[in-house]
Amino acid sequence: MSDIIHEDPALRRSLGRWQSAGVGVLLLLVVAFPLYKAVESTRRADALASEERALVASGRQLWSLNCASCHGASGQGIDAPALNSRQFLGSVEDEQMHGIIAGGIPGTEMPAWWNEYGGPLTDQQIQAIVAYIRSWQKTAPDRPDWRNPSGMG
Ligand code: HEC
Repeated sequence: MSDIIHEDPALRRSLGRWQSAGVGVLLLLVVAFPLYKAVESTRRADALASEERALVASGRQLWSLNCASCHGASGQGIDAPALNSRQFLGSVEDEQMHGIIAGGIPGTEMPAWWNEYGGPLTDQQIQAIVAYIRSWQKTAPDRPDWRNPSGMG
């Protein structure tokens, strides 16, 4: 077999060409992979950001339909706590907020919202509302008395 290759110059040239082509492809992959990874990770970040924007947008609607009457259109609190408060948002995790909204606060005006507990909202809708409330955090005003927004008992 190798004798045939050594004896046939045309075959040797052909083999040589395939070899350099192989090295070329390898180099291309070595260069292309990190490039691909970089492009792919910005694409993923963009996709995540736009998903978050969609979630916040649907949360905004759900908020004005379901929550604004008690907590205020911009979360400033009326006869319910102000949720647009640096102190409140800094003290609560998303999962806690989700739990409070889903189950309500028994014995108060705050009802359960999750449909598993007889409320009108799905788990995903609650998640959207939490994302919307969380979106206030960057600009949330100083409101250490968030539970007492308008002198409510
Ligand atoms: C009928 C009035 C009413 C509506 C509508 C209402 N809430 Fe409430 N909510 C309250 C009251 C009152 C409290 C405070 C209960 C207590 O602890 O005395 C409260 C408490 C909360 C808390 C806890 C705040 C804290 O200080 O820990 C969260 C979070 C919350 N509501 C979110 C929501 C969301 C989100 C919606 C809409 C899906 C909503 N609420 C709709 C009356 C309401």
